[in-house]
Amino acid sequence: MKFASDPLGTIRAGRQQCGDVFTLRMLTEQLTVLIGPAPHAAFFNSTDEEADQADVYKFMTPIFGNGVVYDCPIEKRRQQMRALGAALKPGNLRLYPEIIAQETKRYFDSRWGEEGTADIHQTFADLIIQTGSATLMGPEIRNELFDEMYRLYQDLDKGLTPLSVFFPYAPTAAHARRDAARKSIGQLFTKIIHKRREDPEASKANQDIVQRLMDFTYSDGSKFTEDEIAGMMVATLFAAQHTSNVTATWTILFLLEDARKGGNYLKRAIEEMRKVEPEPNAFRDGRGIDHKVLADQPWLYACVKEAIRMHPPIIFLLRRALVDIPINAEMHVPKGNIFMVSNAIAQRLPEVFERPDEYLPDRWATWDISTLPKYSFIGFGAGIHTCMGESFAFLQVRTILNVLLSTFEFELTTEFPTPDYESIVVMPHGPNIVHYRRKARDASSGVPRSVPAVAQQKAAAPQLDFKEVDPTTKLFTRAEVALHNKRDDLWLIVRGKVYDISSYVHLHQGGEAALLRVAGGEATEQVEGPQHPGTVPTLLQRFLIGSVVD
Ligand code: HEM
Repeated sequence: MKFASDPLGTIRAGRQQCGDVFTLRMLTEQLTVLIGPAPHAAFFNSTDEEADQADVYKFMTPIFGNGVVYDCPIEKRRQQMRALGAALKPGNLRLYPEIIAQETKRYFDSRWGEEGTADIHQTFADLIIQTGSATLMGPEIRNELFDEMYRLYQDLDKGLTPLSVFFPYAPTAAHARRDAARKSIGQLFTKIIHKRREDPEASKANQDIVQRLMDFTYSDGSKFTEDEIAGMMVATLFAAQHTSNVTATWTILFLLEDARKGGNYLKRAIEEMRKVEPEPNAFRDGRGIDHKVLADQPWLYACVKEAIRMHPPIIFLLRRALVDIPINAEMHVPKGNIFMVSNAIAQRLPEVFERPDEYLPDRWATWDISTLPKYSFIGFGAGIHTCMGESFAFLQVRTILNVLLSTFEFELTTEFPTPDYESIVVMPHGPNIVHYRRKARDASSGVPRSVPAVAQQKAAAPQLDFKEVDPTTKLFTRAEVALHNKRDDLWLIVRGKVYDISSYVHLHQGGEAALLRVAGGEATEQVEGPQHPGTVPTLLQRFLIGSVVD
């Protein structure tokens, strides 16, 4: 009971009493808690055959649907995840900043006036479902079915309560609405998919996740059913929605709170933004934001990342031990226990993070993740189940902040909030009211800013290739692979296969520098080195884009 009302307090007290590894009795379950980089390794280095996610996340089945993700055998689940991972590769996201920027502008033009007040968390909750569906779900939802999808998603979302975690099928009104909504979403996608199949040529032009899932083939030659596609889309929206809106909310709250106390974090973000904006007023008009511009905003990146360190939206990761899991020479997690790591505890350990309770984005501007012990920053998880949407999340949150901060001035009028640990994705307690005032447009509109570096990069950017890559047939020469040797465009060769790991570089627990040393070239020896857990080949599967032709 104590754990349910104060989970982090209980864990901290447990650590004080028993050390970095201890077990709590939770009704009929034994829950082993692992704290600190060394015990975390036992969690993140485990394979699916040793540590099961499905058993602990099965309460999601009524939402995702039968036969989807946690309700299928591991081999099938791996293939579903591979299909999703391919759809979320950074190369497939390049059209999204413009769509998100336009949606954001439209949202604020239609709902906010010249000056007023708003609950910023509510605002982001609404906006992010709009930008998320506009990008990931394709034109049918975006143009015709958005209102319906929005309503159904709300019913699904409200159908996931703390009670649902323990009794997902309890006969409550919220569960009944959830089940009706899931059925309607299945029907909605069935209609979309049938329509696309009637006109395969036009359908090929779509580059959204729906199309990529439609094009995917299981290893036994079968295709996803319509309902599986609907379930995967719901799973994606669920993974993406609250995590991103909470992150956007905390980031702006931290920036505004710092400004209220006389700090300069917000000012630095705005100055950086103005440096990369191709011409005055471009961002507020929803133009000029792309992945290169975003890559040129390290300060904004640091501000978002530090918000995730302080308040990770997901505070626990759980697994069921299918075998005894060794932690060190003396200890193991016994087979049958649930075991967990806590992102929220891990990212505030004083022995790892200096001044852990302070929001200090500068730590990311100067720190390389490799200077930290492995598995210290785990906001996006680690190991084989590292978040697949991390690139999308950063892209979405930063694009929205660019449009917002270039359009309005803000002031936080309520107290800085505490986190609400009773919600499944941890949100700030509300209300979080901001006073906004629309900024005057810059009179020099149309005059390019002096940002030749970005502008030239954009001018020289090659025609983007959004065609689906079938990783089993695509061939590359070593010279072609060698061109992809930078931090934001990084390919590797391992045992003759080519992997595009651009989205993973900054999550690499061994640091970016180690990957840059082998970028664009042969990395078999390094990847198979003793420093890596046996889970690496599985993780790599996500990034497979082809083979080398010698
Ligand atoms: C700030 C935003 C986000 C945070 C903090 C976050 C965090 C996480 C974490 C901690 C995990 C690991 C779960 C575990 O090991 O049990 C995870 C997994 C995952 N995330 Fe995210 N996430 C975010 C945004 C997104 C977005 C935008 C998407 C999709 C568009 C997404 C898709 C996924 C998927 C598919 C997985 C499962 C990966 C697997 O099991 O192999 N996430 N996320």
